[in-house]
Amino acid sequence: MFEKGKLSGKTTWLSPSNIALIKYWGKKDLQLPVNPSLSFTLKKCYTQTSVSYKPSTSGFKYEFYFEDKLKPEFKKKLDLFFKRTIEHLPYLNQLSIKINSKNTFPHSSGIASSASAFSALSLCLTDIEKSIIDSEDFYNKSSFVSRLGSGSACRSIFGPASLWGSSSLVENSNDNYAIPFDLPEFFKNYHDTILIVDEKSKSVSSSVGHDLVKNHQFKESRIKQANKNLENLIISIKNEDINEFIRIVENEALTLHAMMMTSNPSFILMKPNTVNIINKIWSFRNEKNTSLSFTLDAGANIHLLYHQDDFKTVQDFIKSQLLIYCSNGKYIDDKVGKGPIKK
Ligand code: PMV
Repeated sequence: MFEKGKLSGKTTWLSPSNIALIKYWGKKDLQLPVNPSLSFTLKKCYTQTSVSYKPSTSGFKYEFYFEDKLKPEFKKKLDLFFKRTIEHLPYLNQLSIKINSKNTFPHSSGIASSASAFSALSLCLTDIEKSIIDSEDFYNKSSFVSRLGSGSACRSIFGPASLWGSSSLVENSNDNYAIPFDLPEFFKNYHDTILIVDEKSKSVSSSVGHDLVKNHQFKESRIKQANKNLENLIISIKNEDINEFIRIVENEALTLHAMMMTSNPSFILMKPNTVNIINKIWSFRNEKNTSLSFTLDAGANIHLLYHQDDFKTVQDFIKSQLLIYCSNGKYIDDKVGKGPIKK
């Protein structure tokens, strides 16, 4: 617990991962997106981070532990994060902090942990600020700070869905931080089963991918398309138009990978089994009336999105037809969640 004004204490936050339906791909200036993105916030894949702090007489100091072990390999990323954020969290100059983090999802599952990790850490840092000095806009500031760690992390601050990036369609939307996006009950009951096609970390990082958008031959048309897809997706969500929702979500996933394949130099993050699974999903949908669609992150794994009512049918389909394409038969069942929780 905090004592107002006191420079020592501890805070713990649980913050989930998120899956983008409209993809953020390409940035400008300091982690600002070239187009708006919209994501479902997840529930079970989250990071739990505790930050304990005490006064420091020699400026800001931090130590980072993952699952109670000192992890110097994260130093480079964290140094950059603190370099970018310290001017927004000046109280840190008086503190020495110890960060301890753990994830609910396996480390080597190919699941990007940067969204949950940076959002959990940012919530802790903003929370400490709130305990020392009165500050307003707690969640907006947490989202702003998260963005400086990893762009997509700023969306994890809000559930059940979140929008980041300025759009004339959504009031208060802006590039600096994400805002909550409410969903009709129907979409709050969506599942996301993540099929682990490849457990290795990806061959090309997201930062390199974002950079390649700067001189991409399709940059301007991609920005137009993302805005149009966002408009149509919002309408499909409002009208609970599942067919249109599926069309846009899959178009976004495949465009993301098409952008990678047509950048200079080009790269491919899908694996043969990613494509095998997509073909199976399309055949399944031709045979069955189902809400099942897929989306992809910047990697080979596939996110299956579907409504609760289809849970049994989709789970049977996964077990009978898709697990053979997963690495060691691995998958993670998640669903749409409500956002971070303070412990
Ligand atoms: O937040 P970053 O820099 O790891 O970029 C993530 C980009 C995608 O996951 C591919 C899309 C998105 O909007 O989350």
